[in-house]
Amino acid sequence: MPVVTTKEILDHAFAERYGVAAFNVVNDLTMQAVLTAAEELRAPVIVQTSVKHVQMTGTDVMYAMWHEMTRHVSVPVSLHLDHCPDRELISECLAKGWSSVLFDASKLSVEENKRQCVEVVREARRYGAHVEGEIEGFKRTEEMTGDEAEQVQSLQTVVDFVKETGVDVFAPAIGNAHGVYAAAPRLDNQRVSDIVGATGVPVALHGGTGMSAEQFRDLVQRGCAKVNISTALKIAFMKAAQDHMSAHPGKFDPPAMFNQQSEAVRAMAKEHIRLFDSDGKAWT
Ligand code: 13P
Repeated sequence: MPVVTTKEILDHAFAERYGVAAFNVVNDLTMQAVLTAAEELRAPVIVQTSVKHVQMTGTDVMYAMWHEMTRHVSVPVSLHLDHCPDRELISECLAKGWSSVLFDASKLSVEENKRQCVEVVREARRYGAHVEGEIEGFKRTEEMTGDEAEQVQSLQTVVDFVKETGVDVFAPAIGNAHGVYAAAPRLDNQRVSDIVGATGVPVALHGGTGMSAEQFRDLVQRGCAKVNISTALKIAFMKAAQDHMSAHPGKFDPPAMFNQQSEAVRAMAKEHIRLFDSDGKAWT
């Protein structure tokens, strides 16, 4: 059975100190391309869905795609709902069969976040599902001011949150952001070690697009077992369409363009899987 829990995937990665790529897919083509890349490299992988895409596609269609595409997958895979502040959508995805969710209540006070996160964890457990938690939120790269790594909660606040909620993976702010970094981000790698050492849970690294191979290597060694990649997938997907149209002016052949996009996303996924050292790590 290739669909496993997100926790099983992360437990292996955390114990062996490699990173599992968690790609935000945007449609059927990108979901398939990511799964194919993982199979070709014998790597575990997490397929992530953003709230926007789930709402656009609907949970029935999204889950039916996932179910069909993973029926014969031979590597460990799981389906994750990324950054979701909407409790109703979380309930809908959990009931449908998503493997895990990121309850994003980072806009609420830590106390209220914690109170609700306890409920989300309890609900997830009823389905054998798992939960990622966050308390700080992430900026877009274009909003960065350079002091992100300092605008964080105390280690004790993180420890209390993780212990009291029972989340399976925690997403800290370490100077990372979503999007394309204008310059190499200054990351607080030590914070990952401090959190992992004090909580014993794996860390989810957000804002993966544009980090260097050296940054990934060090952060994965410190316990970033889940590495989120979204913008790189969008760039590969959109740029391939643009390249195709420029190379074939006046030709309107969707399957040919889709093939090119699929190739580009698959290559991008393989590059990141190798960077995180998860190629060859499938155990199923
Ligand atoms: P990027 O878009 O920077 O790759 O970040 C992805 C992410 O963290 C999704 O939650």
